[in-house]
Amino acid sequence: MSFVSVSNLCKQFGRETVLRGLDLEVASGEIVALLGPSGCGKTTTLRCIAGLEQPDSGRIVVGDRVMCDIAAGILVPPEQRAIGMMFQSYAVWPHLSVFENVAYGLRVKGLREAEIAAQVEQALTTVGLNHLASRYPSTLSGGQQQRVALARSLAAGPTLLLMDEPLSNLDLKLRERMRLELRDLLKELGQTAIYVTHDQADAMVMADRLVLMNEGEIAEVGAPRDVYNHPKTAFGSDFLGSTNLLDFNAMQDDGARIFGCLAQGRLLQVAKSAGGLRYAIRPEHIAVGRESLPQWQANVLKGSVHKAVFLGNVSYYKVDCDGLMLLVQGQSEDFAVGDPLVLHLPPDWLQPVL
Ligand SMILES: Nc1ncnc2c1ncn2[C@@H]1O[C@H](COP(=O)(O)OP(=O)(O)OP(=O)(O)O)[C@@H](O)[C@H]1O
Ligand SMILES: [Mg+2]
Repeated sequence: MSFVSVSNLCKQFGRETVLRGLDLEVASGEIVALLGPSGCGKTTTLRCIAGLEQPDSGRIVVGDRVMCDIAAGILVPPEQRAIGMMFQSYAVWPHLSVFENVAYGLRVKGLREAEIAAQVEQALTTVGLNHLASRYPSTLSGGQQQRVALARSLAAGPTLLLMDEPLSNLDLKLRERMRLELRDLLKELGQTAIYVTHDQADAMVMADRLVLMNEGEIAEVGAPRDVYNHPKTAFGSDFLGSTNLLDFNAMQDDGARIFGCLAQGRLLQVAKSAGGLRYAIRPEHIAVGRESLPQWQANVLKGSVHKAVFLGNVSYYKVDCDGLMLLVQGQSEDFAVGDPLVLHLPPDWLQPVL
């Protein structure tokens, strides 16, 4: 049973269609990451769920409450949805202390002072900031301010927490640490959450399930590892990590094996067919060496290094195989531009994509 159920969500701004019949399910306690390029509709989706935006059509259920059902004329106002929201600009108030920042929403709700104090203390303890309650945001680091914002969204005990790029203002190191901490914390609390990002590493680390959006539609859904290793679309394959897209001219099936035909009559064996001509293979799935290995049965291509990119922990090579350019990831050995190489494309890693 889903805790959050969004069905057929549609939204237009003027003539621009931003959401095209989006369906999304989130289980209780699950963290779902909405990932996609800028402008694909991530924030709009969150705002519709929070009630800050009115969809043109669709239905949104959270827990056992119908928050929005356009056809039935139901639209619960945002303050009655018990949904927490955390934004990219952490929006902590500079003139209020940490305590007052977290207390703000509870005061608006009209809670009594003793209840407010107890809930603020609990929220600050949860994020490890109780000792800084009397400080002002300008005296806190970026990561600490981020945690104030988190404490504020957790203080009211939201049934669902929506987070919109909550870490994107932080530098890379802090961001890497915070996303691990954030995930651990949400899991400890059993908090159901939707986490929006355009950063694939954020999404891969944070999410139980990853929903990849493109132009107002869902392109891929699944566990991060499955979506990464077995993308169904060229978009998914390219957006998550890097990929090589191969467009075959035709497919051949000799009964036992399936081949894709490249220009000049070259054939590449593939393990499965989905009826299309387009396949993807990731750079790290292509084996590379100076000589062919005996276990490389099918799909051995000769080429030479066209470009080499050194990233510190890993190197990438663009290899020219008779006009077919393939991006490969370096393994133990370093190569230089012009070096002759042999590549092996394991049929199992040639993924049919739409
Ligand atoms: N209030 C609005 N009025 C008009 N157009 C809007 C409005 N809000 C969003 N849009 C448009 O809707 C599209 C989707 O916007 P949205 O903010 O949902 O994208 P996003 O996926 O969150 O992108 P980003 O990663 O850049 O935050 C964009 O083209 C945007 O310009
Ligand atoms: Mg956005």
